Amino acid sequence: MFENISEGKNYKSLFNGEWVKSKSGKTIQLKSPVDETVIGEIQSLSQEEVNDILENSKAAQIKWGETPINERAEVLFKAAELLEENVEEIAKIMQAEIAKDSKSAVSEVKRTVDFIKFTASEGKHIEGETIGGDNFPGFNKSKLSFVTRVPLGVVLSISPFNYPVNLSASKIAPALIAGNSVVLKPPTQGAISALYLAEVFNKAGLPKGVLNTVTGRGSEIGDYLVTHKNVNFINFTGSTEVGKHIAKEANMIPMLMELGGKDAAIVLEDADLELAAKNIVSGAYSYSGQRCTAVKRVLVIDKVADKLIKLIEERVNQLKVGNPEDGVDITPLIDSKAADFVQSLIDDALAKGAKLILGNKREGNLIYPTLFDNVTTDMRLAWEEPFGPVLPIIRIKDIEEAISIANRSEYGLQSSVFTRNIDDAFYIAKKLEVGTVQINNKTERGPDHFPFLGVKSSGMGTQGIRYSIEAMSRPKAIVLNLPR
Ligand code: NAP
Ligand code: G3H
Repeated sequence: MFENISEGKNYKSLFNGEWVKSKSGKTIQLKSPVDETVIGEIQSLSQEEVNDILENSKAAQIKWGETPINERAEVLFKAAELLEENVEEIAKIMQAEIAKDSKSAVSEVKRTVDFIKFTASEGKHIEGETIGGDNFPGFNKSKLSFVTRVPLGVVLSISPFNYPVNLSASKIAPALIAGNSVVLKPPTQGAISALYLAEVFNKAGLPKGVLNTVTGRGSEIGDYLVTHKNVNFINFTGSTEVGKHIAKEANMIPMLMELGGKDAAIVLEDADLELAAKNIVSGAYSYSGQRCTAVKRVLVIDKVADKLIKLIEERVNQLKVGNPEDGVDITPLIDSKAADFVQSLIDDALAKGAKLILGNKREGNLIYPTLFDNVTTDMRLAWEEPFGPVLPIIRIKDIEEAISIANRSEYGLQSSVFTRNIDDAFYIAKKLEVGTVQINNKTERGPDHFPFLGVKSSGMGTQGIRYSIEAMSRPKAIVLNLPR
């Protein structure tokens, strides 16, 4: 199935339905986050090659945009079927490439199968409308607007390392069903997994050029890509820093951005503390905290803090630490820069008097699950996104203080509220400046047909299957003017 995508460990790029190498011969070597062994190399494409790709994508989109939706949906269903047949193989690549633990890697691929199937079905239900002129004062029924949804053209999809398959597919599938062609720029570390996904779509019968890939470092090729005249929409998931940079560079190109987060779990006095602890631990530490929606701070009412911390500690102690293939919970972080950053947050918290409950142990890129009590608002850990297995607990006196600290963050992705009082839950939920509030659950993106969005520095626009299809299509109005 995947024999065409590489020569040995040299992975090619998908261009006009064929797997090709860069004419320059330039490649980027990818190493394991676990032990630095070489996993493979990917093409480092030149500007000239990227330009050829974008010209090809533009040409290919025209026919695809005219292809009936039910035929586009058939290609997506076929892609889902092929992906389902290759779950284990792709999950193994992810384990090697981004050190995702085996359970999470398998679950990412399976979730992506469901995502693509749902998108294919949902696409068939995106409909237009007819609006009569007489709704507006001064007009009568002689005017009728026929509104349909049409594709935007070429969608540039840029995905992050932490979900190279799912967060690539969650851009590709809605863009394709809406009739766009797609240029996928996968993360450099994570590119091989994403190239496997691209081959799944290719083998599913997507016409040549409707999905192309661009590999190469974002820092080198990114600016050229996001400012290219043929790009009609940018769908980006990644860090706030890079997202803001792209937004400046790309000027008037419309975009959807899902960026960083500092999701708070607010725990009230009357909460089911067992439930809260269970959700907080899985929310904070799964895939070693490398999730935008990870629980990244706990704001707990002081009176129940000791009890909650004990319950959290018991669960963190049960987390297994090691290598991705060993069925563990905590694996090495993506690279040494990421591990150094997390360590700097830990060191800052310790220096400023936070109480270490567990952790602060490091072996290479592996950071053991770390838990802090008595974190205060002068510490970096109260505000910065670690993207690692470190959880700060901030004690608060009441609901108002929880809302105030939660909203002082530059981020606004999600928050959780744990309480048995529905009035308090809704009061807090309404006040929080975030895209989504979870009542009595950890913060998380799924199910994937729900709207998923961040406010403030956490993003702009809304993902979620129907929302994504709408974001990557536009209304087209044709007005019929009847003689009388
Ligand atoms: P990142 O460093 O921002 O990279 C994301 C993507 O952008 C990669 O494909 C990267 O390519 C590319 N890129 C880098 N510079 C670029 C440029 N100048 N122009 C165009 N593309 C460029 O993020 P990451 O480290 O992969 O992911 C972690 C971050 O993503 C965290 O902050 C996390 O919270 C956030 N995230 C958010 C969500 C969400 O839905 N809100 C989901 C997942 C992750 P290279 O790999 O080649 O540099
Ligand atoms: O990393 C960011 C993802 O959008 C989070 O998705 O909540 O399903 O882990 P998740």
